[in-house]
Amino acid sequence: MQKRETFSSRLGFLLISAGCAIGLGNVWRFPYIVGKYGGAAFVLLYLLFLIIMGLPIMVMEFSVGRASQKSIARSFDELEPKGTKWHLYSFFGIAGNYLLMMFYTTIAGWLLLYFFKMAKGDFVGLNADGVSAEFGNLMGQPVLMTVFMVIVVLICMGVCSRGLQNGVEKITKVMMICLLAVMIILVGRAITLEGAAEGLKFYLMPDFNNLMYDSQGNMILGEAIFAAMGQAFFTLSLGIGALAIFGSYIGKDHTLGGEALRVTLLDTAVAIMSGLIIFPACFAFNVAPNEGPALIFVTLPNIFNEMPMGQVWGALFFVFMSFAALSTVIAVFENIISFAIDRWGFSRKKSVLINLAAIILLSMPCILGFNVLSDFQPLGSGTGILDLEDFIVSNNLLPLGSLIYLLFCVSKKGWGWDAFIKEANTGNGLKFPKGIRFYVTWILPFVILFIFIMGYLNKFGIGL
Ligand code: PHE
Ligand code: NA
Repeated sequence: MQKRETFSSRLGFLLISAGCAIGLGNVWRFPYIVGKYGGAAFVLLYLLFLIIMGLPIMVMEFSVGRASQKSIARSFDELEPKGTKWHLYSFFGIAGNYLLMMFYTTIAGWLLLYFFKMAKGDFVGLNADGVSAEFGNLMGQPVLMTVFMVIVVLICMGVCSRGLQNGVEKITKVMMICLLAVMIILVGRAITLEGAAEGLKFYLMPDFNNLMYDSQGNMILGEAIFAAMGQAFFTLSLGIGALAIFGSYIGKDHTLGGEALRVTLLDTAVAIMSGLIIFPACFAFNVAPNEGPALIFVTLPNIFNEMPMGQVWGALFFVFMSFAALSTVIAVFENIISFAIDRWGFSRKKSVLINLAAIILLSMPCILGFNVLSDFQPLGSGTGILDLEDFIVSNNLLPLGSLIYLLFCVSKKGWGWDAFIKEANTGNGLKFPKGIRFYVTWILPFVILFIFIMGYLNKFGIGL
């Protein structure tokens, strides 16, 4: 058997895990969900879920990966007690990775396209309405969207085909650092815009009424809590083995609690900063914060129009945003590719080629959904297929998958607490506190289930 690849350094591991975590979830999804559910109060809820749910589950995913030395394709087979069926989850997990890519590649393509548009000066001199109209036009151009989606898929499959160290690890390092630098500068510009104060208030001063009722006075608390949980799992890449695989590529010299904390902090920093850029801009340029998935595309170009050398800053910003999205796509592709390698013994090359074609095809419904299939609105009004795919992943597969990882790690019928704790706490660094065993075993699973059920009831109006 071939020797398993490993990262060349610990920094490589941290950055790639952060690269997988930091992506559209932070710069695109976080702001629009926060805007939809009324701002600061929702942000608090989200932060709470990161700590009480996301962090422990991330430790569990890394542990399953490191102990099994396998991706989601085989990790449960490796660790489950004889005769049990935990490994069946590998198929749901991998389906989750595909489903995620079915809309993620399209949005990543929009970012890349916006980079080119910025660089070309397409937004120069447009007022806020003009900027919005540009986005509206894009929705009517499936061919253009397809071209950029295909570019995204080709770049990322290309990187993956070069293997772990040469491809994935090297590229991610540089990009993450550049992204952070540009974001800091933009926060500075955004919070000094005229009218920024209103935006900061919306984003930072909790008003719990906003969390309970929407603008028509309908009760939305249950749905908002459901959304906050989904966003917490989404942003940390939990529940479908996306991070577990990186656990399988590292050594035993650091505890996994410490590594998970670092990844979570980096991810949170980027999300919080995107809010600091976007909400001041919303209020400064009169864009409704509950605009939905279009939000960053109809606010951001306005900021650059207000900046000296805005065209340059705008291009830089969108290029690094694209990188953040690409590093996530690369990480998920790595999972998808190694699934076929680990489960069916494909060569890397064969797996890359087949998946390349598959992902392009699977991404088409999302693109056609804005235009050709736009009458199909399964979740009520919204963006049709994009919203549906996102809902299936973020509100269903990620929380339920996280629950499976959790049960696997705490239950005697699974891998079990002792084995989990031993793996998590091997190495130097922060230990997983044994004192929270009761909490993770008997409380957390019920909290997740409860929110899930309540969210569904609310979503379909049977609600609390
Ligand atoms: N965490 C990624 C982001 O924020 C999205 C993701 C979710 C990636 C689940 C993998 C698995 O963009
Ligand atoms: Na994220």
